[in-house]
Amino acid sequence: MSPWCGQRRMIHVQEVALRDGLQSEAGFMPTDEKIKFVDRLAASGLSKIEVSSFVSPRAVPQLADAEAVFQGITRLPGVIYAALVPNLRGLERAIAARADEVNLVMSASESHNRANLRMSCDASFQAIKEAALLAANAGLRVAASLSCSFGCPFEGEMPTATILMWCRRLQEEAGIRSISLCDTTGMAYPALVHDLVGLVRSSSPEANLTLHFHNTRGLGLANVFAGLDAGVIHFDAALAGIGGCPYAPGATGNICTEDLIHALELSGYRCGVNLDALIETARELEKFLGHTTPGQVMKAGPRLSSPREVIAPCESTPVRTM
Ligand code: COA
Ligand code: ZN
Repeated sequence: MSPWCGQRRMIHVQEVALRDGLQSEAGFMPTDEKIKFVDRLAASGLSKIEVSSFVSPRAVPQLADAEAVFQGITRLPGVIYAALVPNLRGLERAIAARADEVNLVMSASESHNRANLRMSCDASFQAIKEAALLAANAGLRVAASLSCSFGCPFEGEMPTATILMWCRRLQEEAGIRSISLCDTTGMAYPALVHDLVGLVRSSSPEANLTLHFHNTRGLGLANVFAGLDAGVIHFDAALAGIGGCPYAPGATGNICTEDLIHALELSGYRCGVNLDALIETARELEKFLGHTTPGQVMKAGPRLSSPREVIAPCESTPVRTM
C-alpha cells in the first residue's frame, strides 16, 4: 500500500543510542546524563527505548551503571523501556531492574558470536531459550536480536539458510516472535534487505520483524525503504547516528533517529514523534559527547514542516531559509 493513499501508515522507530550508541563511545557518560537523555527521548514520543544492557561491565564498561539508569528514569505510560541481555545473569539483572522488555542477543555468525559473547551460537541459543521462558514467566516482553544477519566482518556473506534457520528456531523453539535482523557492520544493501525479509517472512510468518541498520556504507536509509517495501514497520535507530559494536571490526553508527523520522514523515508515514524536540536532543547529545556526530538533519534543519506542503504543487509554501 502506498503511504500516499490517505491513511498514513504508522512506523515504529525504536531508540538505541543509550545502548548501541554509548557502547562505542570512548568516554563514560555519567548516570544522571543518561537518565536525562532517556527521559527526553521518551518525552519526544518514542515508544520504545533501549535504556542500557546487562552485559559484563568488563566487556562494556560504558554501560556498567545499567541498574542505576533504570532506577533513575521517569517511566512514561505507553513507553517500553528495554535492555539488551546476553545471558542468564543479564536476565536476572534485567528482571531486578524492572526492564519492560529484554532483547536477547546472539549472532548468526559463529566467529562474531565468539568475539562478542565468548560462546558458540548453540550455547547462546540455549541461553536464549531458557531466558525467554524465565522472562515471560516474570511478565517481561521478550525480543531477540540476530547480529550479522546481512553479513559478518569475519566470515563475509552469511548463508540465507542460516538466517532462516535461526529465525525459525527463535520463533518455534524459544517462542520469540519479535526478532530483529541486525546489520551489525553495515553490510546490507536494498536488494538484499528486500529479498531476505521476504524469505524470512515466508519461512517464519508469525515473526514480527525489526530491522537494525548501521550506516557504515551510507546505505542505511535506502535499506529502511527496502524494508518498508517488504512490509516491515519496526526499525531501530540511534539519536544523532551514534553507535557500533565494540566487538565487530569496522562497526560505525546506527542509522540516525531524527534523519529517519524526517525521511519517513516526508514520505507520508507517521512516527508519532516530535521531530523538533528530537533534533534539539540530538544537538545536546553532540554537545555533551564533544565530537561531531553523523546526524545530518540536526545540522541542516528539517526540509519542510509537513509532507503535505511537499506534495501540494498548487499551493505556495513558505520557503524556509536556514
Ligand atoms: N552481567 C554482569 N556480569 C556478568 C554477566 C552479566 N550479564 N555475565 C557474566 N558476568 C561476569 C561474571 O560474573 C564473571 O565475573 P567475575 O570474573 O568477576 O567472576 C565474568 O563476567 C566472566 O563471566 P563469564 O560467564 O565467564 O563470561 P565471559 O567472560 O565468557 O563473557 C559475556 C560472556 C556474554 C558476559 C560477555 O562476553 C559480554 O558481556 N558480552 C557482551 C558484549 C556486548 O555487549 N556487545 C555489544 C552488544 S551486541
Ligand atoms: Zn547495532
